[in-house]
Amino acid sequence: MDKILWICSILTFVVTCEGKAWTDEEETPEYWQNLAKEELQAAIKVEEPNKKKAKNVILFLGDGMSVATITAGRIMKGQLQDKSGEETVLAMDKFHHAGLSKTYSVDRQVADSASTATAYLCGVKAMFYTLGLSGQARKDVCGSEKGNQVKSVLVDAYEDGKATGIVTTTRINHATPAGAYAHTASRKWYGDAQLSEDARKNGCRDIAQQFFDSSHMITVAMGGGRKYFQPNTTFDPEYSTEANTRLDGQDLISKWKQKQVENGQNAKYIWNKEQFDLVNPEKTDRLLGLFQPSDMQYEAERESDKAGEPSLAEMTQKSIEILRKNSNGYFLLVEGGRIDHGHHGNHVYKALRDTVAFDDAIEKAVQMTSDDDTLIIVTADHSHTFNLGGYTDRGTPIWGLVQWNGEVQLAHDGKPYTSVSYGNGEGYQGTGTYDEMGPHHRENLTGVATGDLNYRHQTSVPLKSESHGGDDVIILARGPMSHLFHGVHQQSYIAYAMRYAACIGSVRGHCEENPEGTSYQTNNFLGMELGRAQTSTALNVQFALLIILFTCVIIMGILLHKKNSRRGYIAQQQCEDGRQL
Ligand SMILES: *[C@@H]1O[C@H](CO)[C@@H](O)[C@H](O)[C@H]1NC(C)=O
Ligand SMILES: *[C@@H]1O[C@H](CO)[C@@H](O)[C@H](O)[C@H]1NC(C)=O
Repeated sequence: MDKILWICSILTFVVTCEGKAWTDEEETPEYWQNLAKEELQAAIKVEEPNKKKAKNVILFLGDGMSVATITAGRIMKGQLQDKSGEETVLAMDKFHHAGLSKTYSVDRQVADSASTATAYLCGVKAMFYTLGLSGQARKDVCGSEKGNQVKSVLVDAYEDGKATGIVTTTRINHATPAGAYAHTASRKWYGDAQLSEDARKNGCRDIAQQFFDSSHMITVAMGGGRKYFQPNTTFDPEYSTEANTRLDGQDLISKWKQKQVENGQNAKYIWNKEQFDLVNPEKTDRLLGLFQPSDMQYEAERESDKAGEPSLAEMTQKSIEILRKNSNGYFLLVEGGRIDHGHHGNHVYKALRDTVAFDDAIEKAVQMTSDDDTLIIVTADHSHTFNLGGYTDRGTPIWGLVQWNGEVQLAHDGKPYTSVSYGNGEGYQGTGTYDEMGPHHRENLTGVATGDLNYRHQTSVPLKSESHGGDDVIILARGPMSHLFHGVHQQSYIAYAMRYAACIGSVRGHCEENPEGTSYQTNNFLGMELGRAQTSTALNVQFALLIILFTCVIIMGILLHKKNSRRGYIAQQQCEDGRQL
């Protein structure tokens, strides 16, 4: 009894202590059969693929979001709502089509975020740490950039007249977002202060500079990283003692604004939540939001940010509101970038809380778009060494100790253990020094708050930073051509399939062959281009007008027959009232 009380006191979830973590229905066969029936009906509905042209494409990239991360994130999403967790349905869980993505790079079995961004955004696998360059380029060798640049889907979309957007919780010049516009032999060349001697001498451009150079092609960009855009003689507006980092004296933010205005755009630069809330999408053609000097906050710490930051879902919403004004459609990249950073630090809570925020952003995009004309893809760039195991009870807090029937289990060293852990990383150490560690020097987790923000879950190999994983990641898709994601794919296929679905870039031969598949479901009404919803409103208005017209004609007929009768007079009044309405 004592033990049970103790478990209750360290676990924040009461479900495991007060009875079962599941429902009575779950114990019956009917429950699972009915669930299967529902799923089957949904599956039968999507048997017929949607072969329309994707007017809009949204790529959701969960950085480091392995399948284990999705499972654990799903459990956390439920537990944040005081549920057991496992049964939760994520927004991404509802996508009809799924495939796997093989993430290795040309030279590494386990890839980084730059080589993988080159794969899923440009359609070409690349060398570790290189960005927007084919495998013929060499990491850190400035001279190898020349002639090896490969184009991204974002640039293709721009060239085909679409609006484009990049949203991230990392820096806007970090590997994933930079994959959409930059070409660099090192992903670490964030600003000119980070360029190597060789890069500087040979005129290679830093990534912030490349963002500016490409910014006529980018309608909306939001994330962190503003210190790379302003001179080292100036200070950050939010942290007044932190200097910016550019050495070349350029203020790329004011230059950005000037460039957009010269192009006739109504452009806005914002750096805090208040300014973000004030952005009116209807009156904004171009938006640049840089909310931190470096990466944005983890979702778990966002509330305490000094100047305030929008959530990933809010940034996604604002982006779509601006991008959808383009009648040719848009391409939007949304990165949940700090899932990866949480994992690198073995910080389970941070990684999973950001996974939940990422799913919230997906939910928002699904609500705001139609799968009739918008292809939404959810995938990751690579995995992590994160895993969950230990047969722990249903409803156990995702960061908590393994327990069976409410009893905390002990490992062979006599100490409790968590169900989530890592293959490597800084979480190895626990307390004490490496030298003191015998074979059983694993921290005794009894009474340890493993759900704390900065708690590092245990690992089997001590590394300063936990590494990526090499296992396949998932590709989920809904909307036009989502059936093209259906099996085990090369990661580089994703870019190719997006081009095919949207008829952009080099993959468009089929679009002319199948004109039916290329129409956008828009209609011309009184000279206005209308989408589906607007068309149906217009048709309703048209119908109502016709009814009024018919009524008037009939009433006029009656009037002609009973010219002088009082009834006729009233009817005429009604008719006029009707027209006024
Ligand atoms: C800023 O950069 C210039 C050019 O490299 C350098 O001479 C100067 O010392 C830097 N200033 C500060 C405050 O770091
Ligand atoms: C772990 O800590 C608990 C509580 O202090 C203690 O009862 C237990 O014996 C410890 N286990 C080991 C193997 O040291």
